Amino acid sequence: MTSAIEVHDISKSFGENLVLDRLQLSVSQGEIFALLGPNGAGKTTTIEILTTLVLPDSGQALVKGYDVVQDSTQVKRRISVTGQSAAVDEVLTGYENLIMFGRLMGLRTPEAKDRARELLKQFDLDDAKNRRVATYSGGMRRRLDLALSIVRHPEILFLDEPTTGLDPRSRQDLWHLIRALAKGGTTIFLTTQYLEEADQLADRIAVLDHGRIVAIGSAGDLKKQVGDEYLEIRTRTGDICTTFPIDGSVASVQAALHSLDERFHHALVSIRRPTIDDVFLNLTSAPTNRQPTEHAQGEEQ
Ligand SMILES: Nc1ncnc2c1ncn2[C@@H]1O[C@H](COP(=O)(O)OP(=O)(O)O)[C@@H](O)[C@H]1O
Ligand SMILES: [Mg+2]
Repeated sequence: MTSAIEVHDISKSFGENLVLDRLQLSVSQGEIFALLGPNGAGKTTTIEILTTLVLPDSGQALVKGYDVVQDSTQVKRRISVTGQSAAVDEVLTGYENLIMFGRLMGLRTPEAKDRARELLKQFDLDDAKNRRVATYSGGMRRRLDLALSIVRHPEILFLDEPTTGLDPRSRQDLWHLIRALAKGGTTIFLTTQYLEEADQLADRIAVLDHGRIVAIGSAGDLKKQVGDEYLEIRTRTGDICTTFPIDGSVASVQAALHSLDERFHHALVSIRRPTIDDVFLNLTSAPTNRQPTEHAQGEEQ
């Protein structure tokens, strides 16, 4: 498959702060690729470099085969980027914002109006199209922001933490729209701090920590990398009390259960495969021998 994005040895510092440290990655055409990392990991900086807004110190990045430094005009023609703060005019309605944006993108007014109406339907904003954006909910703004970013049918769409701050319902709505865009052939490069979001959306996930990719693969690949199973002790209401890493043997299960005192005798036991959350904890804070963590007191009955 042809690469949509190729990153070779990109480094970037702000003063003394080395933010990206010889970053390597490649994204295939039509893929949903998630860059997963905590606050300050370098996610936004990566997007800014790939979208030509910030220059790298060294290394090379190609977007649709064009160098982000040498051929930035060619790159800009093929991409669109959605940020964490929507660039919409609060005083205008959703419909007016979309028309204005279409005009800015070089569409003639009738075409801009047609495209605006089409996008309002696609993004479930038809009922609110004549309301000022100032009255929109967080989820509606984010949908409008996404609609604005595809007015021009970009080949690659960059989404910087697309669902941060949204309630679960709005987040699901947005995931649905992002999946639909990918189905339509748009390559999606998104950043997220949410493990669940990467797991739900991405074909491949790269885990970014201190400017380096510490793991890359499908959600399943990453889970396999952690390998171990976990024995979980839960209350009857489902809260996790304690988690033990085990190797699947009877002995490891026996040892785990043996260490529980009588507070836990009415609790429930289950064995589960690692989640992306475990992968992330293992790879970024890297405790090789995770101790059982006590999240809550054992159930009293
Ligand atoms: N323009 C800038 N000037 C100075 N430091 C910056 C600038 N942009 C980002 N940084 C620093 O780079 C690091 C990574 O930031 P960022 O790429 O925004 O991370 P993330 O998006 O993963 O939270 C942070 O320590 C941040 O303070
Ligand atoms: Mg960021």
